[in-house]
Amino acid sequence: MHKIERLAKTHDRDAFDCGSEPLNLFLRQTARQHAERGISRTFVLVDEASTAPIPIVGYFSLNLCQIKSETLTPAEARKLPRDVAGVRLGRLAMAKAHQRQGLGRALLVAAMGKFLEIYQTAGGIGLFVDAKDQDAKRYYEQFGFLPMPSNELELFLPVKTIQDALHEHSC
Ligand SMILES: CC(C)(COP(=O)(O)OP(=O)(O)OC[C@H]1O[C@@H](n2cnc3c(N)ncnc32)[C@H](O)[C@@H]1OP(=O)(O)O)[C@@H](O)C(=O)NCCC(=O)NCCS
Repeated sequence: MHKIERLAKTHDRDAFDCGSEPLNLFLRQTARQHAERGISRTFVLVDEASTAPIPIVGYFSLNLCQIKSETLTPAEARKLPRDVAGVRLGRLAMAKAHQRQGLGRALLVAAMGKFLEIYQTAGGIGLFVDAKDQDAKRYYEQFGFLPMPSNELELFLPVKTIQDALHEHSC
């Protein structure tokens, strides 16, 4: 069984390899510093039975962001003020040995759940992500992420889609 928890010293960041060096390096060198400074938070997927140093199966990071509503589609921008807030899925990665087992999907669902916690407390129009390439873009699109008109590798998952996916409908 797997569980998701905040990145901590007990996690084995050095051994993580998702096949993308920038994503490996972020986890090794930047994620904890960012958390200490309030820049972003990183969450890791681990095996419940693991003991320290705990192998990291996958991770994602989130940070708050501000968006100009004019960069959304006209339908999404309707009735929004010029500047709106959202949450950015800064990074999402699965260790090579665990890819294509449905665990990336589990991490995305967890990120959506974290978004809804923020949404309940402070609002926010949805989750934003910068896909690193067309493959990643296709990956996100299957979960309902929509390309932004201004930059097709930037995608937006509206709060309504997240609520529908997680069957949650409080205001
Ligand atoms: C992209 C990534 C996070 C996906 O995680 P994963 O655990 O391998 O994906 P899942 O097993 O949850 O896949 C869910 C679905 O997406 C599809 N999929 C997986 N990787 C994909 C990819 N790179 N492109 C398009 N579709 C993909 C799978 O076929 C699966 O569909 P299915 O269940 O209907 O067959 C992972 O492959 C990874 O870490 N890659 C390297 C880093 C990266 O590219 N991160 C994205 C940064 S923008």
